[in-house]
Formats: sequence, structure tokens, C-alpha cells
Amino acid sequence: MKTYQSSKTGAVLEVRDIQVSFNIGRKQTIHAVSEVSFKINREETLGLVGESGCGKSSLARAIMQLPPPISGQVFVDGYDLSAMDAMALRGFRSRIQMVFQDPASSLNPGRRVGRSIAEPLRIQGVKDKTERISRVRSMMAAVGLDPEQYEDLFPSQLSGGQCQRVSIARALMTRPDMLICDESVSALDVSVQAQILNLLNQIKVDFGLAMLFISHDLAVVKRVSDRVAVMYKGTICELAPVQELYSRPTHPYTVVLLNAVLQPLPGKRRLADIKVPNRNELSSSTASPCGCRFHPRCSLMKRLCAEQAPRLSEIENGHFVACHFPYSKT
Ligand SMILES: Nc1ncnc2c1ncn2[C@@H]1O[C@H](COP(=O)(O)OP(=O)(O)O)[C@@H](O)[C@H]1O
Ligand SMILES: [Mg+2]
Repeated sequence: MKTYQSSKTGAVLEVRDIQVSFNIGRKQTIHAVSEVSFKINREETLGLVGESGCGKSSLARAIMQLPPPISGQVFVDGYDLSAMDAMALRGFRSRIQMVFQDPASSLNPGRRVGRSIAEPLRIQGVKDKTERISRVRSMMAAVGLDPEQYEDLFPSQLSGGQCQRVSIARALMTRPDMLICDESVSALDVSVQAQILNLLNQIKVDFGLAMLFISHDLAVVKRVSDRVAVMYKGTICELAPVQELYSRPTHPYTVVLLNAVLQPLPGKRRLADIKVPNRNELSSSTASPCGCRFHPRCSLMKRLCAEQAPRLSEIENGHFVACHFPYSKT
């Protein structure tokens, strides 16, 4: 078997300098993701938060190599997916599973849920029906669904939360090392959201998973994440342990996001309300501004911000920020 460069960091997932672009029309290119790097360890959830269109799903798809990023590397358990041929990649892909926003449409409406959950085993070639049934039942129990009650029902007979439990059970059948949840609770009612978030916290430990939890909702991200990365226009502008990020944010964009959803931060000067971007700024993911991508919307911006893009650098143990003038830490 061909060997692939190993990053030997011990992380389940490591992405290095990922870049994703889309050509639209003859001359326009959307830079959806630029120079994104991070690691996720076993039994750790990294939250990825940012407004709609900032590149979260493009990054998730690039990790899955669907399609591969135009540059950068993705390591899973130290092995470089970006360097694998199609066959090796197929084998490795089952180590990462995704759970999407709309559980009803990601399940086959004409298939009973027990069969849907068994599907990955069938694909893996588990021929023994008794074994498949027994593994499906124990997985249903692990995600809080009574197999006797639910295995013969169709998705339309389940609630949104129950459908999402089915999606999670199916994702776990191949015993992945990692789960990517892309807006997985965004379509659910708040009380159901809380139950699914508790389930995700539980399975992270029970199955020893690394998790990338993607959401536009800061309050949701806070409930499941160990660390949080804030994304703005395709780049990570701040990354820190969850308590640190929510109590002492240092990037102006993070402060703006937090001010919008939570109580104003105690002991902190509140940033001027975010300026409403004009149409040029809204379409500027195709032509990002020079310098810091946030500077057209930043009330603290200085000349340097328009001239030079800040690099993501560590300002304290595990706390990274890409800002020339980060909020002073109190
Ligand atoms: N297949 C595609 N073709 C062209 N542009 C795309 C495609 N997928 C995403 N984009 C663009 O890339 C940017 C990031 O999109 P996306 O990753 O879906 O953001 P998010 O998940 O954060 O809402 C957006 O400007 C979006 O319009
Ligand atoms: Mg998305």
C-alpha cells in the first residue's frame, strides 16, 4: 500500500492553509476559504461560527475532499487526504461523517429508519443480517431512540429531532473518528436543539470523537464547543477556548457578534454598532478588500488595517487573533 505523509501531531484532524475558490462567470472568482488552519483532537469539539456565506460549508466540503481544496492539506489521523488516490480516499472518508441541517431531506423518505441506519454497514459489506440488526438496535439506543418503537417507521412519522437522531446514528455506524455537524440543529425548535446538543456532547465522549460543529448561532456553539473559531469572509479571525472567547473576545468582529446576541460584555467599552454594509461590501467576497477583510466594517480601523492583512497569531496560551489592534485584554 502506498504510504502518505504523516503529520504526527496526534490530532484527529489537521487542516493546513486550506483555500477554496469558485469560478463564477468568465472573470469572477469567489474566494470562499483562504489560508485556514487548525487541529481537532479526540474528544474535542471545535465550534466554527460566522455569518451566512462566510465559507463554513465550503470548508467542511473541502475537508471531505468534496471537492478537494485548491490548495492546502487535510490530515486525518496524520494521513494526508490531499495526497491520496481515489481508492485510498474512499476508505479514509468513512472515518469522517457529516450530519446536515435538514434531517428529513437527508433521509430516504421511502426507507424505514432501521434500514437507513443499516445502510453504511451494507456498503461496508457486513453481510450477516442478524449482526446488522443488532448493531442498528444498539446504535439507536445509544442516540436515545427505542428500537422497538422506531425501527420500522418512515422519516415522515418522526419529529425533526427524532430524524436528526436517526441521521446521527447512521453517521456513527462506521465508527468514525470524526463528525462534522453543519448547522445540524438550526432547523429545530429551541427545546429540541438543547436535547440534540446534549446528545452530541454525550457521543463525543462515548465514541471518542473529534467534532467540528458549524453554526451561525453563537449561543448554540457555546453549548457544545471546547474551542471556538470565528470565521469572517473565508478566514479565521479568532480562535480560543470557549470560555475565553465568550468572556474575553479580542477581535472586533467577535465583539460585534457577541454584542448582537448576548448582554454587552461587562467591563468592556461597547463597540459602535456595526455599520450596515453597502452593496459593494456585500458582494466583496468575490473581491475581498485589501488588508484586513473586516476593516470596511470595523469601527476601530486604522490605516494599517486597510494596507496589510493581519496574520492569525497567538496572543496568549491557545488564544489566536488576526487583528493589528486586538481588543486589550482586561
Ligand atoms: N458551488 C458554488 N459555486 C459558487 N459559489 C459558491 C459555491 N458554494 C459556495 N459558494 C459561495 O462561497 C461563499 C461561501 O459559501 P458557504 O461555504 O456556503 O458559506 P456558509 O456555509 O458560511 O453560509 C458564498 O459567497 C457562496 O455564495
Ligand atoms: Mg453553510
